Amino acid sequence: MVKIGILVLSDRASSGVYEDKSGVEIEKILNEYIKNEKTFYYELIPDEYDLIVEKLTFLSDEKECDLIFTTGGTGPALRDVTPEATELVCDKMLPGFGELMRAKSLEYVPTAILSRQSAGIRNKSLIVNLPGNPKAIKECIEPIFPAIPYCVDLIGGAYIENNEDKISVFRPKKK
Ligand code: MTE
Repeated sequence: MVKIGILVLSDRASSGVYEDKSGVEIEKILNEYIKNEKTFYYELIPDEYDLIVEKLTFLSDEKECDLIFTTGGTGPALRDVTPEATELVCDKMLPGFGELMRAKSLEYVPTAILSRQSAGIRNKSLIVNLPGNPKAIKECIEPIFPAIPYCVDLIGGAYIENNEDKISVFRPKKK
């Protein structure tokens, strides 16, 4: 069983101005990529620093998620505070995730440089920031996913099995 938190940060989606598409897209892609049984915990909240900290802590400490994906709030606007909240709750940061996502995303849009997305570890949870644009979700998850199962192995989370016809993963050491 793999436990996955999806935390959507959007002032407008959380107040009903439009429907969340990015959180839905994360769940769809992970259902394709991950073979294990999965439990998803979904939260949709405004771009409030304290709330983001609270929800990330809840998903990690109470729900014991192996993976937590955030979407939105990674840009330069005043209300974009997801990376700061992520850094506060994490025991250690994994800057390589953000570096790879930005590098790959620049092949799609020049404004990918505006995303401050990162990733880090809290207890046994890997937290990954994704941009808010629904189109960005696959563009970002696809390049980083091959390293995710081994990362979760190393922090003592669930043993993630991939659907080989959808995505390959890399484990330097076999179990
Ligand atoms: N990355 C990918 N792969 N695809 C995109 O469309 N949009 C960019 C960037 N990263 C984008 C992307 C834009 S326009 C912005 S402003 C930043 O992500 C931050 O978005 P956010 O504040 O919604 O997280």
